[in-house]
Amino acid sequence: MFEEWYLNDLINERIKKSWKLCDLYLLTNLDGILKKTGIFELLKNEISINEIIIKCGYTDKVFYSIKWIFDRLGLDDYLLSTPLNDTIVYKLTGKTYKRNVTEIFSEAMNLAPLTQSTFDLIKLVSENYPDYLEGKKNGVDILFNEESINIMNEFYCINEFYAVHNIGGGTILNYDISQRNNPSILEIGGGMGGGTKQFILQRIAGKQKLDNFTYIFTEVANKLLRATKKEISEITNENINISYKKFDFNTDPIEQGYENNSFDVIWGVNALHVAKDLKKSIKILYNMLKPGGSLLIAETVRADGNPMVQQEFILNTLDSYWDVVLDEDIRPQYGFMHWKNWLKAFELAGFSNFETIPDMSEVEKKYDNCYVAMIRGIK
Ligand SMILES: C[S@@+](CC[C@H](N)C(=O)[O-])C[C@H]1O[C@@H](n2cnc3c(N)ncnc32)[C@H](O)[C@@H]1O
Repeated sequence: MFEEWYLNDLINERIKKSWKLCDLYLLTNLDGILKKTGIFELLKNEISINEIIIKCGYTDKVFYSIKWIFDRLGLDDYLLSTPLNDTIVYKLTGKTYKRNVTEIFSEAMNLAPLTQSTFDLIKLVSENYPDYLEGKKNGVDILFNEESINIMNEFYCINEFYAVHNIGGGTILNYDISQRNNPSILEIGGGMGGGTKQFILQRIAGKQKLDNFTYIFTEVANKLLRATKKEISEITNENINISYKKFDFNTDPIEQGYENNSFDVIWGVNALHVAKDLKKSIKILYNMLKPGGSLLIAETVRADGNPMVQQEFILNTLDSYWDVVLDEDIRPQYGFMHWKNWLKAFELAGFSNFETIPDMSEVEKKYDNCYVAMIRGIK
């Protein structure tokens, strides 16, 4: 169920083609960063990341950011990595990128203009990467200044690559609650309400009722709570039983005024992966569900055909990207998780029933860049 919809409607042909172009755009930009920083010259001979850090005068803080770039270029056979003693050395293979970034960008914009903010962010971060590596700027300086904040807003609000998370999550949420009677729904990390809007708009489009559930929209950031409340209230004149509250899924819900065993559905779009200690947060949410209740998340996941998501390049300039507990079982590396690790995390939290909707192992047989997954656990 939902397989055809996922492969044809959710991740449609335009998105598939534009995503491939975006990958090429990223790789070409990464090549540019290596050339601008002089790392390209160093890679003409075998060299480790630690040696590069010393030669370029960087600090250890950027070790994993450089590794991310090298791993991504390695996947594309641009770099060869060889284990040597207890380190890894890297060397250029001689592969070159023939098309320039402007050309790739124009082709993508003809195809899917609403993906522009992803390209703009890759460009912005690439331009600033030499300064980031030198410690002159951090991710907040780059991404959240007066000019770039608009691109960030566009990325989350009108970007077709991102919209699939909201559309996908909203669709599966509507499916889940269609089997429940007057459910109580809690949304976590709701941000600017992209998921909430999709959920409501899909109900309006499907002529489904808006008064047969209660909905608590939550966020950790007060500013977002206020802004989103205003936006949601403008969607429809119909009465919706929705309230807006602060909730931090890293800390005890009881102390925040919530009760255990109290929700039929807890859901979130691209929110739960920011949890500091994922095992702890999933357990918190599990406890807040009534027996039979669902935890449903729509998350960016590492795809079979490309296990490194473009967005990671943008986010890995932020300290919060690295500020999570790694865990052998479920979160072996920084960045987005594989959907199989999400299932493992749900299982370890105690969910008796856990699945991806649609089944990712089936859709991945037909397309190798399935970068979004809806994961549901039933208590
Ligand atoms: C990537 S955004 C996704 C927002 C929204 N769901 C969307 O798709 O547009 C992640 C959200 O999680 C929120 N967040 C971060 N840490 C949180 C925490 N500990 N508890 C609850 N929300 C958190 C952030 O403020 C942010 O709005």
